[in-house]
Amino acid sequence: MRIDIITIFPGMFQGPFEHSIIKRACEKGYLDLHLHDLRDYTTDKYRSVDDYPYGGGAGMVMMVEPIARCLDQLKSSVPYDEIIFLTPDGELLDQKMANYLSTKQNLAVLCGHYKGVDERVREHLVTREISIGNYVLSGGELAAAVLVDSIARLIPGVLGDETSALSDSFQDDLISPPVYTRPADFMGWKVPEVLLSGHEKKIREWRMQQSLERTIRRRPDLLREDEEQP
Ligand code: ADE
Repeated sequence: MRIDIITIFPGMFQGPFEHSIIKRACEKGYLDLHLHDLRDYTTDKYRSVDDYPYGGGAGMVMMVEPIARCLDQLKSSVPYDEIIFLTPDGELLDQKMANYLSTKQNLAVLCGHYKGVDERVREHLVTREISIGNYVLSGGELAAAVLVDSIARLIPGVLGDETSALSDSFQDDLISPPVYTRPADFMGWKVPEVLLSGHEKKIREWRMQQSLERTIRRRPDLLREDEEQP
């Protein structure tokens, strides 16, 4: 999968993309990440990407021209499945959305800033608007890193053990069961006996029971969401 990220702060991705799963996905060739500095698509000597809002008001607005120029150039060589704009008023990112996006070949991700982007970008240039939660970040970069991480780990082959993404919390609308490792007894805090028993069927049943109980207790909304589906 190829992902192109359009940003005015490409340096913000250095940390998140140079470690762990995303780094490995890139090194193994499963993920082809490209960062594009929006200022490279400006034409004035100040490399401006924003301007005052028509009609007045506080804050600057990201201009349509550099974004259109950048996307035009990218689209001339990449057939994008989705062009995503990250914004707090977009569709909420959840596991279903990550699953869906992980099946795509080419994605473009636009990171917003300032007061917002010129509405014509949203009307004409992007195909999808995504929010990572009901709070406002200073810009779309951290949200883009979250989005890319949630997608990358689902690309077949990226995680060593193919089943590990399938057993993630949320994959079946259930919270994952608790996990333990050595020692079996830490200062009297004991690992549940069943996990030490070696009895596979009992362990599977215990985990399912724990998942259900945890979901009911912590995230009953996940179960209700399921009921609402036709
Ligand atoms: N940009 C600012 N806040 C955001 C959010 N919550 N999700 C996605 N993009 C954003």
